[in-house]
This record gives sequence, C-alpha cells and structure tokens, in this order.
Amino acid sequence: MSATVLVGAQWGDEGKGKVTDLIASDFDYVVRFQGGNNAGHTIVANGHKLALHLIPSSIMYPEVTPAIGNGCVIDPRVLIEEMDMLEREGFSTDRLLISGNAHLIMPYHLDLDGAQEHHLGTNEIGTTKRGIGPAYQDKAARSGIRVQDLLDAHIFELKVETALREKNTILSKVFGLSTYTTAQICENFKAFAARIRPHIADVGQLLNSELRAGKHVLFEGAQGTLLDLDHGTYPFVTSSSCTAGGAATGSGVGPGALKRVLGVVKAYITRVGSGPFPTELSTDSAIGTALSKVGGEIGTTTGRLRRCGWYDAVIARYSAEVNGLTDLCITKLDVLSVLDTIKICVAYEYEGQRFSTVPGQQSAFHHATPVYEELPGWRCDITNCRSFDELPQAAQAYIYRLEELAGVPVSIIAVGPSREQTIIRGWSANGS
Ligand code: GDP
Ligand code: IMO
Ligand code: MG
Repeated sequence: MSATVLVGAQWGDEGKGKVTDLIASDFDYVVRFQGGNNAGHTIVANGHKLALHLIPSSIMYPEVTPAIGNGCVIDPRVLIEEMDMLEREGFSTDRLLISGNAHLIMPYHLDLDGAQEHHLGTNEIGTTKRGIGPAYQDKAARSGIRVQDLLDAHIFELKVETALREKNTILSKVFGLSTYTTAQICENFKAFAARIRPHIADVGQLLNSELRAGKHVLFEGAQGTLLDLDHGTYPFVTSSSCTAGGAATGSGVGPGALKRVLGVVKAYITRVGSGPFPTELSTDSAIGTALSKVGGEIGTTTGRLRRCGWYDAVIARYSAEVNGLTDLCITKLDVLSVLDTIKICVAYEYEGQRFSTVPGQQSAFHHATPVYEELPGWRCDITNCRSFDELPQAAQAYIYRLEELAGVPVSIIAVGPSREQTIIRGWSANGS
C-alpha cells in the first residue's frame, strides 16, 4: 500500500502541474488535497495548454481518476466553469470525484477576502482574492458549509441562513459592504448542486480501499512549502497545509501510505504576493528582468508579475525536512541558459550569525542576507536535451550542486513547458 505526494518546495508555481501531468499515467488516482482556485497549474501536452485551478493535472489521461479531497475549498461556480472548459477542449470530467467533506467557498468569502486585505493596508498579504482564507476561517470556526450540504436543500438553506446572520453583520457593519439574502444564495446554488451532485463521493474511504487493492495514488499539492499555514512565512502564507503531511489530513489516507515525496523546485525561485524573500532580485535589475521575461513569470491565476530571485538552497533544505522529500524535480533549467553566471544562496547571515536552515525567528528571515556561491552558466539552448548526459557540463554541475545542497536526489529535470521537454533521471513508474 503506497502513495506518492508531489509538493511545491518553494513559494508555489514551481511547475507542479507540468510534473503531475508528466507522471500521472503511472497512477490510478490523482488527488488534490488542499487549497482551492488560488492555485493555477499549467499543463502543455498534445497541442493543448491548460490552466487548471481545482481539477487535478491528470485530466488529459482518461484512465486516471481525478479526485478533490476533503482538505480543499471549492468555489462551485469556478469548478463548473473549469469542467465546462475541459469538456470544450475534449477532456471528460465524468470521473471527477469530490469529497463531501470539502468546504464550499461562498460568495461572502470573496467579499471578505477583499475587505480583509483592504483593511490590512500596507501589511496586506497579497492574496488571490478568491475567498480562500475566509473559507478556511469558517472551517476552523466550525461554521463552514460543506459540499455534502448541497445534497439536502433544506439543510443547505438552514446553514446559509445561520451563516448570513453573522456574515451580513460583518459585511455591512464592519466593512460597509452589501449583504446577501438566503433566497438569493440558495437560488444560485440550486444549479451548482445539480451539476456537482453526481461527483460527490467518500473520497477517503475509496482511496483507502483502492490502496489496499494495490492501486497507485498520486497526491498533487497546490501552493508551496513556504506558503504552508504552519511551516511557511506566516502570516504571508495561504490558509492550508501545502506540505506533504497535508496529503493525509486532506484526503483521509493514513500517513503510513505516503511512501514517496517528490518536491518540485524551479532552478531559481519566484513568489507572488507580499512577504519576505531573501534572494529577491530587483525588477529593475538586468537579471531580474531576464528571469521574469524568459521564464514568463506571470501568475496563472491572477496575472500578477511574480517576484524573481536566485535559487535558495536554504529553503530547499528546509523543504526537504518539512516534507520528508525522497526526490527532487528541478524545473525551468532552460530559463537559466541566458545567464553568464548563476548564483545559489547556500546560507543566510543575520546579526553576525550564519543560518544553514530557515531561521525559526521571523525577523531573522525578514532581514537575512543571503550568502551566495557562484557557478558558471552554459549559455546554450538546452530545451531539446532529453537525457542528463546531453546537458552541457556546466548545467550538470549546477544540478549536482543543488542535489548536494538539498541532500535529496534530483530525479526529474524540466527543460521546457511541454510534457516531452523533460529529463527523467531516477524516476520509475508507479511510485516504486
Ligand atoms: P504550478 O502552479 O506549480 O503548477 O506552476 P504554474 O503552472 O503556475 O507555473 C509554471 C509555469 O512554468 C507554467 O507556465 C509552465 O508551463 C511553465 N513551465 C513548467 N516547467 C517549465 C520548464 O521546465 N521550462 C519552462 N520554460 N517553463 C516551464
Ligand atoms: P500554485 O498552486 C503562488 C499566494 C498568494 C498570496 C498568498 C495567500 O499555482 O502554486 P490566498 O489567496 O491563498 O489566501 O493567498 O499565497 N498564493 C500563491 N502563490 N502560487 C499559488 O498556487 C498560490 N496560491 C496562493 O499570492 O501571497
Ligand atoms: Mg501556479
């Protein structure tokens, strides 16, 4: 009985969608276990380019069952739009399974996300404004509305009515925003319920019995380790558990089943939204501009420019520990081909102290000065390389160094956005 977890090991947008699509055919189920449509996962294969927000990135393989676990938050309008988009593109969503225990993002969550951010002023988190934080707030407060509530119109109405007593007061009295009526929300959700109902399942129980029967399960993380609610750069994080442990709580599969953990990192690093970023390059700098342009670093969900920086091996090492990484996948190595020399952050300095892992105290991380090592670039096109040996020596040396610094073997290297632009180094089928 074994399952594989794929997680982002930086601040998100590492290329999780591409890598999930690459390895998905080795699995029977691919499961999202946290987050919602704050995620934007891009897959490029067979002449299609898809930007997915909620549906697992295995959707191009009809034989793989996609599932959304209990740890996710679902905006039904967005989910249905995504299902419609996929059907138009020729990909069936008939087999999509949705946990009845996943929570719903309600219209007032979107308003509250915007209002809470506005309220923070210059301290804003820079959220995606998709209602993610407020939906998880309600989950933790035990006042959330779940997918299974869509199965009973009466219960759904009662829950909406109860929620609105509090939400309308906050919307109008605290933030001066318009309020909702129960009838209005119930009317809109009637159509959502009809569409989603056939997909609702006991995902946890199903996955456990399928794992016992020898089936293979891949958990697809969203966001990244440094955006994890507990282990990230709090408060500049998302509201869910993006690290590997979240795959257990977010699906109902016991942690003992999680045998292999693949951490995805870019060959450099990016971040969207606010918060500390030790290796950040200024957007005015030639290298910052080059990474942003060549890497196409524009948010898949919000269209915001991603902040770019040098690869941070301190973060990679931290992610390796927090997630128990067994394998590393380096994406976007091709983007570095434009550089003469490449820096790697190997440690931080703060107030005369040297840190080789992420400092426990936030202010040390905020004010950390990166200690860099510099390696020669390779300055040639590597997008057609399909084996490690085909990579120029300098690119191989860069990978060896990242591997050494993280203490985790690099099993997959991506050299372009499409499925085939990949070098498989030590990854075998079925997560074995
Ligand atoms: P995710 O959120 O982790 O799935 O990542 P995103 O899809 O938001 O962002 C990654 C972007 O990089 C997407 O546009 C991908 O198509 C692209 N991408 C992924 N791997 C590579 C790669 O190896 N090279 C290049 N040039 N682009 C890549
Ligand atoms: P994928 O899965 C990058 C960031 C937001 C913000 C913070 C909180 O594509 O890697 P939220 O809306 O979640 O409350 O915002 O988290 N963020 C992401 N950054 N990639 C993502 O997803 C992200 N999802 C959320 O920019 O800083
Ligand atoms: Mg993304």
